[in-house]
Amino acid sequence: IAPLIIAVILAYLLGSIPTAVWLGRSMYGIDVREHGSGNSGATNTFRVLGKRAGIIVMLADIIKGMVATSIAILLFRLNFIEEQNLVTAKLILGVVAVKGHIFSAFLNFKGGKGVATLLGMMIAIHYEVALLCIVVFIITLLISKYVSLASIISALAFPTFLLFIPRFQTNEPLLIIFGFFLFIVIVWTHNKNIKRIADGEENKTYIIKSQKK
Ligand code: G3P
Repeated sequence: IAPLIIAVILAYLLGSIPTAVWLGRSMYGIDVREHGSGNSGATNTFRVLGKRAGIIVMLADIIKGMVATSIAILLFRLNFIEEQNLVTAKLILGVVAVKGHIFSAFLNFKGGKGVATLLGMMIAIHYEVALLCIVVFIITLLISKYVSLASIISALAFPTFLLFIPRFQTNEPLLIIFGFFLFIVIVWTHNKNIKRIADGEENKTYIIKSQKK
């Protein structure tokens, strides 16, 4: 049981790494939490610090989720878990990393909204479905201009694709259950964005420059 506990702690600490805040403070002398949407995530880093910083934070947050989730593979290779428990272990470690991002040990248990870290988890669990979710994200963003809405819809897409697309149908019901649970987590972390969208006050993001009026 000790290796499992260590793995969970590691996943939490990995998820907790506040890349947006640390990069902003160390490289730009700016705390992204004091600007834009106030969120310590990749989207707000793009908004406040620009493309380069945004891409670094996005990739780092994705990698956090991938690595934390993949600790399960190491546990399996070292014979700490059985093969039939591999998916469950990945799900637990991935969720812990996403929670770490949202309730960071380094930010007084506050943090980001969990989207990029969740994407990393999805990639580590089912990269084909994760790629489809990225496509859903881009299409939603192009149409709505809202990153937050694109995040919510693509979080819903993951369990939905696993449930309904025959090619991806799984005999792991936990994958679907955790998928929907994480969708609810993402809706919850975006509650302010949802309110702003309803009020017509949400920030719009134009990924194609000429779209901008
Ligand atoms: O990744 C978070 C995104 O969905 C929304 O971020 O900064 O617009 O609240 P933000």
